[in-house]
Amino acid sequence: MGFFDEPFDLMTPPEGRVEGVAKVTGSGKYAAEYKVNGLCHAVLVGSTIAAGTILNINTSNAKQVAGVLGVITHLEKPVVPGMADEEKIKEARFGLPVFHTDKVYFKGQPIALVIAETLEDATYAASLVSAEYREDAKTVDFNGTLGFVSLTPAGKDRGDITALNSAAHSIEAEYNIKAEVHNPMEMHATIAEWTADDKLKLFDKNQGVNNVQRTFAKLFNIPVNHIEVISEFVGGGFGSGLRVWPHALACIMAAKLVKRPVKLMLTRPQMFYSVGYRPASWQKIKLGANADGKFIGIHHQAKNGTSVYENFNEGITRVTRLIYNFDNLKAEAATVPLNLSTPTWMRGPGDCTGDFAIESAIDELSYKLNIDPVALRMKNLALEKNPETGLPWSTNYINECIEKGAQMISWKDRKAAHSQNIEGDWNIGYGMAVGAWNAGRGNASAGIQMQKDGSITVQTAMTDIGTGTGISMQNIAHETTGISKSKIKIELGNSNLPPAPSQGGSNGLSSIGGAVVAAVNALKLKLAEHAALQNEAYKNVAAADILLSDKGISLKTANSQFFISYASLWEKNKLGILEVEASSGPGAERQKYAFCSSAAHFCKVRVNRKTGKVKIERLVTVSDGGKIISEKAAANQMSGAAVGGIGMALMEEQATDERLGTLVGNDFAGYHFPVNADAPIIEVAFINKPDPNINPQGSKGLGEVGIIGTAAAIANAIYNATGKRLRDLPITPDKVL
Ligand code: MOS
Repeated sequence: MGFFDEPFDLMTPPEGRVEGVAKVTGSGKYAAEYKVNGLCHAVLVGSTIAAGTILNINTSNAKQVAGVLGVITHLEKPVVPGMADEEKIKEARFGLPVFHTDKVYFKGQPIALVIAETLEDATYAASLVSAEYREDAKTVDFNGTLGFVSLTPAGKDRGDITALNSAAHSIEAEYNIKAEVHNPMEMHATIAEWTADDKLKLFDKNQGVNNVQRTFAKLFNIPVNHIEVISEFVGGGFGSGLRVWPHALACIMAAKLVKRPVKLMLTRPQMFYSVGYRPASWQKIKLGANADGKFIGIHHQAKNGTSVYENFNEGITRVTRLIYNFDNLKAEAATVPLNLSTPTWMRGPGDCTGDFAIESAIDELSYKLNIDPVALRMKNLALEKNPETGLPWSTNYINECIEKGAQMISWKDRKAAHSQNIEGDWNIGYGMAVGAWNAGRGNASAGIQMQKDGSITVQTAMTDIGTGTGISMQNIAHETTGISKSKIKIELGNSNLPPAPSQGGSNGLSSIGGAVVAAVNALKLKLAEHAALQNEAYKNVAAADILLSDKGISLKTANSQFFISYASLWEKNKLGILEVEASSGPGAERQKYAFCSSAAHFCKVRVNRKTGKVKIERLVTVSDGGKIISEKAAANQMSGAAVGGIGMALMEEQATDERLGTLVGNDFAGYHFPVNADAPIIEVAFINKPDPNINPQGSKGLGEVGIIGTAAAIANAIYNATGKRLRDLPITPDKVL
């Protein structure tokens, strides 16, 4: 039956998402789109300096604007108990103590909030707020500052990297990646309403409603269940919604002040410094191999930018421990404080950055060794066990990803030496790289409500940020109940529903899938309990022996006369809506096995010798994400991630101006990412073999592995085309020429 044991029927057109129609017709509501009675609008005022102290702040002009209802500053504000004093601020781990300090840590930091009847009134009044500061020394220059911080060990050493000194061939090189910004299509927004003194309702853009709930319960010292968070539709996240950011707190404070519901939506420029970003990074790799290509070891050093008020270590060297057998390994890391807002997880965080350096270095080594990059990787992959923990992989088909990808792109057409494939002004090249990501799973719960007609609603608090959680839950519910998909409704993104982890780290489906299966089992047992009153055969049966269909319940082992229709079950037992809830999470399997998802990326580029233009002609991404539950949604994730990889490789860069201590180009004119013309049709394939141990449905995470390695595959293809080894991202035409 279905995905547990059968391959896909490729002749059937892929199905759309459960929320697809609502999304494209506009009936699906994003956070800022809800109509709330009495709603007013808040606009943030940002600091005009990058470092210093606010001496005074003038809000009187703003307050005189018609329609203005209130102004918040660090001097005039409603009480936030969780930020009552320095100790509490630290305890809250909220990051920026917005409106609770006169200190300015970065340019654009909120120093005031204006609340007015209309967005226009609020925007105008906000423009009239001014402040005087005492300025301190500042820096936003990552590469200029990184020399001042020292590296410290990042994890356990393996063996002794002095073994690298006797390597037949080695590479030692540095890699720099500029900061990048998530920029989901939907801007972050919050509508906050205090429905009672201690009851809060939020429409909010985030990746985890329960996380938002917990954060504000702590800050406002109210019970978690007094906070309702609604995030039914989320227009992309890429990690920016995994934390709760100052603007949401500001909005809640505003609602407290004016005693009305308040909406606060970030502008696109504010998005660049309000909800995290991938920090700039520097890396140094020393990698060595024997003459036959067996790796001897690796020394990986990494630094990433952070803010001056918080330490964010991206975990760049984590992936170094995951993919290959390095008998000798040393990793070191450091963070570099800058007068910028705090960075956060973004699209394959850490691993994506680290993997670029490793996979570039391995490619470089392959030319020195004169061994094909595919063969060199195959020789060194850690296929049996996690090289760090020693636990055997539950499943790991990274080698099959490589084989399939090589075949898809016709790797045999690649010329081993660089600059050998030329058509007019264009040099053609092929490159590849691999990526992996620890496959996690969290505790999650799901509920099912069943009606007399056999239709069910499957519920969870988890948000769907565009990954296809809804359609995947529907598929799992369908496969495990036998109930038609048209009779299965999905509800998610609301904190009143059964709690679930945030959607991030490629853990979403891995976590919620098990909960859906558990809820289905609970439903079966509950139905059997009622059925037992009509037929003794249903007494004490196991969930696995119970069959459901659109019409009713039956037993696997008994004959068809034991069938009981839902209609008669409902009538005889006087049932209303039958409700169950169940939880599921990781268990003892985590002590027995290691889990990872993996991918191989292959790229064919054309590089124009006169203009430096890099054209991605083909991009093939093959991944092992265990069993694929919804092929279309899974492929969407992987092609989207690959486009993110093109952006990382060729375009995305958060520029800064050191003199002004500011970001530069905070809009879609100044910050470039790939549009359709910059990306080919991404060719996505899956190994699609279930992992029998990770969760009941056998799916490992997807998403992150779609970008881990992509930038390296592109850079490696550029080398094969041109002979230019480019180690700094983004690879803009000026670097290519
Ligand atoms: Mo992601 S960085 O797991 O949203």
